[in-house]
This record gives sequence, structure tokens and C-alpha cells, in this order.
Amino acid sequence: MASNKTRVIARMDRVVNDFVARCRYFREPMTRGRAKMFVMQHRLNTRQRNSVLKLKVATNCTDWDTRIRIIQACSEEVIADHEHGGGRPHWQILEDLGVRIGLDRAAIRRARPLPSTRLCWAAWEGLMANRHWLEGIVANTCAERANIPGYGKGRIRKAGWFGLERHRWGRLFKLSDDELEFFELHEAADIAHSNQGWRAVERFAKQYHMEDAVVAACEQNLNVWEHYLDGIAAAGDQLR
Ligand SMILES: [Fe+2]
Repeated sequence: MASNKTRVIARMDRVVNDFVARCRYFREPMTRGRAKMFVMQHRLNTRQRNSVLKLKVATNCTDWDTRIRIIQACSEEVIADHEHGGGRPHWQILEDLGVRIGLDRAAIRRARPLPSTRLCWAAWEGLMANRHWLEGIVANTCAERANIPGYGKGRIRKAGWFGLERHRWGRLFKLSDDELEFFELHEAADIAHSNQGWRAVERFAKQYHMEDAVVAACEQNLNVWEHYLDGIAAAGDQLR
């Protein structure tokens, strides 16, 4: 990470670093049950976030270019990603991965959000729909930020969150990098998506006197992400 970054960016990076370092989901071993639950919940979560929550942030955004980029990123997630995903939406690529690890496609589609997932959606609604768009864009991008190498320790620091997942899912299920494309494509897509958020903070936080607010938004949103992942782990541990 560049050493000439502004103070507010350095503070946000510290918050992401703390999240990556403490989150049990990253530190505890991946299991078949957790991986299966991740597919079922994250397919729903990515649809909810990108067709509902992030669009509320776009609606509130007063900077035209930023607003269009948010909509563009959402469209890659839920409609078609021509840049990284061969024209498929990300939730569908995740569905294909679910089939490869032994889930039945109909069962993936039947899955309902866990109570913990629903609680997170309600929390994010509060942190995204009715806030200043600059806090909203931090909410949109702070978890994707963890996919960028440089946060936490060990493999996640070297490869980012989804680089870590690609490694451990590959070992657990004997899948090739091609078969783990969901994680691989995010390593590129998320650098682009999360850079939008960090760049907007760099451009606007000082001007809007919102440096403390964006750092607080980053903390609160990542606390919700931690709850979401803990919920997946707990429910995944009940699966066979
Ligand atoms: Fe995605």
C-alpha cells in the first residue's frame, strides 16, 4: 500500500486490517459444511446487496460518475459480468461452484436466508439506505477490500480473503483454479470495485467533513460482516 495515502485512508485500512485479523471465519479451518452454507447464503446475500442495498447508495449519490460506477458494479454482480465473468452474474458463478462441491442446484435455489443473514440485511439497510452516500459507498466496498492482499497476517495477507478461500477450497474439494473461478474473478473484480469506494473517500471525505463518519461506517459495516460470517460458520457446522 502506498505510503503517501491520506490519513483517512490509513485509518480505514487499519479498520479493515483489524477485521481480517480478528474474524473467526478466516482463522478457523474451512469445512465442507461451512463451504456449502457459504454458497447457499452468499448467493442470496450478493443478490440482496447488489439489487437492493447498493442501489440505495447509488440513488443517494450526488456525484454522477461515482453513481454510474456503483450501478455498473451492481450490474456485473447481478446481471452480467463481461469483464471478469464471461458474461455471467456472480451469483450464478457461485451456484456453479456449489454444484462442484456436491450441492444439488435445486437445493441451492431453495435455500432461505438464515436468521443471522436476515439480521445483517436489516442492519445494512440502516447503514446504507438512510445515510450519506459517502458512508454508503464505504458500506458497499469495505468487505471487498478484504480481498485485496495486504491486510491481516499469513496467507490472507499474501493473497487476500478470496485468495485464501481459493487455496483452502481447492485442498478440501480437490478443485482446480479454473473450477474455483468464483474466487479468482473476485481478486480482480474486487480490486476495481473497492478502489471506487476508497477513491471516493479520498476525494470527498475531507471536503464534506466526514473523515470520522467514514471510519465509523467502515467499523460498523465490518462488524455486520463478521456477524454474517459467524452465522454461516455456526449453521455450516450443523450440516453434514
Ligand atoms: Fe461478486
